[in-house]
Amino acid sequence: MQETIIGVEGVEYSYSANLEAIRGVSFEVNRGERVGILGPNGAGKSTLAMLLAGLFVPTSGDVNVFGVSTRSNEFEHLRSKIGIVFQDPEDMLFNNKVIDDVSYSLRNLGIDKEYANRRSVEILELLGIAHLKDRSPYRLSYGEKKRVSIACALVNSPEVLILDEPTANLDLKSRRSLVELVNLLNKQGLTLIVSTHDVEVLPDLVERVLIMEGGKIISEGPVKSIITDEHLLDKASLEPPAISRLFMRLKARGLVQDVPSSVEDAFLILEKTLSSKCGH
Ligand SMILES: Nc1ncnc2c1ncn2[C@@H]1O[C@H](COP(=O)(O)OP(=O)(O)OP(=O)(O)O)[C@@H](O)[C@H]1O
Ligand SMILES: [Mg+2]
Repeated sequence: MQETIIGVEGVEYSYSANLEAIRGVSFEVNRGERVGILGPNGAGKSTLAMLLAGLFVPTSGDVNVFGVSTRSNEFEHLRSKIGIVFQDPEDMLFNNKVIDDVSYSLRNLGIDKEYANRRSVEILELLGIAHLKDRSPYRLSYGEKKRVSIACALVNSPEVLILDEPTANLDLKSRRSLVELVNLLNKQGLTLIVSTHDVEVLPDLVERVLIMEGGKIISEGPVKSIITDEHLLDKASLEPPAISRLFMRLKARGLVQDVPSSVEDAFLILEKTLSSKCGH
């Protein structure tokens, strides 16, 4: 049976009396799932990420993580099982050296400095940035800061990882290695929640997508059917990936039958279509 790891029930969140950022959101995430939250600027993705991590408490409704409400005192003991990478990496970096930022949460749990540093170097190696360990976080490039902030969230071996716009400003190689790393961690049991408007990377990162618009979830479903639904994405001021849009035009001409969500998917469709046309 599937275990619900996050349960969101009728959640509303207001920053002030007339600024309601989340308006009645409900959904569940099962252990080991990879879920995307897709939506345009201002939809409420980052606010929802903060609510899921228990860093914000709902104005009304409940967020339950591991069956415990983020409002309860008991939740404090579970906090370290949730890793969150903020949209702005600078919000996570405040020490003079990268290694001190990455090891901070371990040292905060009372783990001795030597072990905390060793574990931090391990994570930095996994992310391919061990060479940055003695640098000042403030003097790194944006993409480097982003990867250091991911290391900060992973160092505690969280059971749930929430990534807010993880691919923003990452170069192609860094994007690929991030995708490989989170998928590897997911195979080892990590539950993954990714908030983004990057439709190109989404099929590589998640299997199910929630679409947010104006603080509400307007639709949800498997990643392929959601991100190839032009009409639905248009409602959220988004559009399908370039490869999907190309195939939509080919399909309208009757040249292919299916619309892919990724290049790998497109290759399989073309291979099938062309080999049947060539009689192979
Ligand atoms: N600290 C804040 N104080 C007041 N209003 C805020 C604050 N942070 C966000 N908001 C407002 O809440 C709404 C949702 O913002 P949020 O940052 O959650 O959107 P988002 O989907 O993450 O957008 P983006 O794609 O630009 O990151 C917006 O109207 C925003 O202006
Ligand atoms: Mg955001």
